[in-house]
Amino acid sequence: MRHFLIACAASIAFSASIQVKALTTDEKVDALLAKMTLEEKAGQLNQYSGYEIITGDIDVSKISHRNLLVKKGLVGSVLNVLGTKDVEKAQRYAVEETRLGIPLMFAFDVIHGYRTIFPIPLAESASWDLEAMERSARIAAIEASAAGQNWTFAPMVDISHDPRWGRVMEGAGEDPYLGSQIAKARVRGFQGNDLSLPDTIAATAKHFAAYGEVIAGRDYNNVDISRRKLWETHLPPFKAALDEGVRSFMNAFNEFEGVPSSANTYLVTDILRDQWGYSGVVVSDWDSFGAMVTSGVAVDDAEAAEMSLEAGSDIDMESDVFVNFLPQLVRDGRVDEAKIDEAVRRILQMKFELGLFDDPYRYIDSEREKALILAPEHREAARDMARKSVVLLKNDDQLLPLDKNIKDIAVIGPLADNQFHMNGFWRGKGEAEDVVTLLDGIKAKVSSNTRVRYAEGSGLESVDKKQLRKAVKLAKKSDVVILAVGEDADKTGESASRTNIELYPAQQELVKAIHETGTPVVMVLMNGRPLAIEWSSENIPSILNGWLLGSEAGNALADVLFGDYNPSGKLTMTVPRNTGQIPIFYNTKRVSRPLDNTRYTSKYIDSPIEPLYPFGYGLSYTEFSYSSITLSTESISFDEVLTASVTVTNSGERFGEEVVQLYIQDMVGSVVRPVKELKGFEKIALKPGQSEKVTFTIGVDDLAFYTRDMSFKAESGEFKLFVGSSSEDLQALSFKLTAK
Ligand code: GLC
Repeated sequence: MRHFLIACAASIAFSASIQVKALTTDEKVDALLAKMTLEEKAGQLNQYSGYEIITGDIDVSKISHRNLLVKKGLVGSVLNVLGTKDVEKAQRYAVEETRLGIPLMFAFDVIHGYRTIFPIPLAESASWDLEAMERSARIAAIEASAAGQNWTFAPMVDISHDPRWGRVMEGAGEDPYLGSQIAKARVRGFQGNDLSLPDTIAATAKHFAAYGEVIAGRDYNNVDISRRKLWETHLPPFKAALDEGVRSFMNAFNEFEGVPSSANTYLVTDILRDQWGYSGVVVSDWDSFGAMVTSGVAVDDAEAAEMSLEAGSDIDMESDVFVNFLPQLVRDGRVDEAKIDEAVRRILQMKFELGLFDDPYRYIDSEREKALILAPEHREAARDMARKSVVLLKNDDQLLPLDKNIKDIAVIGPLADNQFHMNGFWRGKGEAEDVVTLLDGIKAKVSSNTRVRYAEGSGLESVDKKQLRKAVKLAKKSDVVILAVGEDADKTGESASRTNIELYPAQQELVKAIHETGTPVVMVLMNGRPLAIEWSSENIPSILNGWLLGSEAGNALADVLFGDYNPSGKLTMTVPRNTGQIPIFYNTKRVSRPLDNTRYTSKYIDSPIEPLYPFGYGLSYTEFSYSSITLSTESISFDEVLTASVTVTNSGERFGEEVVQLYIQDMVGSVVRPVKELKGFEKIALKPGQSEKVTFTIGVDDLAFYTRDMSFKAESGEFKLFVGSSSEDLQALSFKLTAK
C-alpha cells in the first residue's frame, strides 16, 4: 500500500510539475526535455553497473560515488542492480532526490533465465521449438521483472561459424533464417504485448553487428568482412528482431570497415535508423565508447563521446564519456545539443513505454518476487525446454534408451555431479544449489533395484592416476557407464575463446580408459560449443549432446537417457572433426572446383572435408520415413507460389518428434550462391505408425538474395528444392522461376 501511495504521489507530483493533461507521450517527453539542463540530459545517456554480477572490470568502491551521481540526476539507467530491495533503494534516489524525479531503468543480462536457469541459448536453438523458446524467454521476463528489472540485454542474435569463439553458446547457431525465427520468438517472450505491464521487459538485439566474425575466433578481436557478408549473413536476425518490435539494440565491440560499431554511422544511422526506420534506443556494450581510445580510433574520451553520439548511439555503458564530456563538447561547439536531445528523447520514450513515469515502483513488489522466483511451474518448463534441446548424435545397437531396472549403473565424469557448471556462463541469478545434477537425475529416475555408483574419474583439465583407477574399477563392475564430459561453464561464453575445440586431454584420457574396460558407454557431452569429438564418435556407442541445461539438467537428461522423452534436437551449428576445419558451416557457397576428396579439388590432405555432424542433424529412438516430395508445379513466375509436400511416417516403435527441413539452392546467380539455404522447417510429433503430410510454400521472396549490385531480389532460372531430416539427409527436386 505504501508503494502505491508513494507512486501516486510521485505521479501526481510529476504530473503537476509539467501540467500533464492528456498529453501524448511525445508531448510529455518534449515538456520534460525542455526542463532539463545540459548536464541532466547527459546524465540520461549515462549507464552504470551496480555491484552484482560484473561483466567487465569495475572498482566496486565506485558504487558510493555512483549513488551520488544518481542523486544528482546524472545516471539514466543501471545494470546489475538486482532484487526489489536494492532496486527500490536506487529508484528512490532517482525519483525522490533529484530535481526532476526521472526514474531509472534497470537492466540485466537475462540470457537464458533469471533464477530458474534454462538451457543455454545454443542448446535451446537445437530444439527448433519456437513456442518453447518463447515460453523460456517469457518465464525469464516474469522472474526478472519480479526482481525489479525492466530491461534485458538479450537476445544475442549474432551468427557465427566459429566454435572457437566462446560466445556461440548464447546465440542460435550458424543459420540466418533459423536465427531470425528464434530472435523473433525470444523478443516476443521477453516483451509480451505491452511493455508497461509489470511482467514484461524490454529486449535488446545484440551485438550490432557481426561480432560473430571475430578473426580466429578470438573474442574482442577485429572483424573484417564485406558488406555482402554483413547483409547476407549477419543482419537478417537483427532485422527480424526489429520487425518483432525489439525495444533496444546494443553496439558490438568490434569495428566494421575499420570503424568501431558504436561510432559506425553506416551501421547505426544509415542501416538501423534510416533504412530500417528504427527509432528506439541503442546502448553501447561495456565501455565500447571508451575502448575507441584503446583501439586508436579516438584520440581521447571526448572524441570517443563525440563520435559515438554523432553515429546515433544513445547510452554509454560504463565508460563515463557521455556524462563527463558531452556538456563541454556542446559548449565548445563540437556537438549539437539537438543531437543529445534526440538521444534523450528516445530514452525518455522508452521509460514512458515501460510505465516508469506512471509508477516508478511498478516493478517493485516483494510479494510477487517471493511468489514467482523459482516457481515450480518454471522449473517444469525448464525441464521441458532442456529435454527438447538434447541432440542424440549416435546410438549404435540401440543402447539407448536405458532400462530403468538395470542392476548396476556407473555414473562417471567431472561434470556428472556438478551443479555449478550446468548454469553456463550467463547464469543470471541462478544458484548452483538449485541445480539437479545428472547423478541426481539418474538416481531419481531408476528403480529401487538399480545400484547407481559415482566416480569423478578426472577433473575438467587434470587427472590423477588414483581417481582414474577408481573410475575404471567401477566401470568394470557395472552394466553400463554414463560418462559426463565437456566444458567448464566459465570456459564458454564471453572472453572464453579456445584454440582447440576437442575434449580436454585429461577427459580424453578418461574416455579412453573407460572405453577400454569393455563396459558399454553412453557419453553425455555437457558443452557450450560444438566439440570436435572425432575419436569418441568412432569408439563410443551412444553419444548425447547434452549442452549446459540449467536448473533441471539432471532430470531432463534422465528423461532422455531412460526413454521418458525421445530426443528430438537437431544441431544448429555444424560439429567439426577438428579445429582445423573451422570455419565450417552447411550453407557454404559453390566453389570453382568440386568439393570432394579427390586430387586438385577443394579439400584438405590431412582431414576429410565433411564435418563430424552436420547442421540440422539429430537422431531419434524411433525411425522416420519420408515419402517422395511432390511439387504443385515445376515452374513459377514471379507472382506465383509453389508447394512442396512430403509425408513423414513414424516407422518405429516409439512416439517421436521430427524436424522436417526445407532447403533451396539457386543453381545460377549473378553472384556465387550457397549450395543450399534453409528456407523452412516444421517440427511434427508422430505416434508409432502415424503419418503426417508436411507442406511448404515457396514464393519469390524465398528466392531473393543480394544480387551483383546488392539489390535484394530473385533472379529467374533453375532451383533445387530439398526436404529431409538434416542438411545432409535430403531428397531433391528441381523447379524453375521464369520471368513472365
Ligand atoms: C558484456 C557483453 C554484453 C553484456 C554487457 C553487460 O561485456 O559483451 O553482451 O550485455 O557486457 O553485461
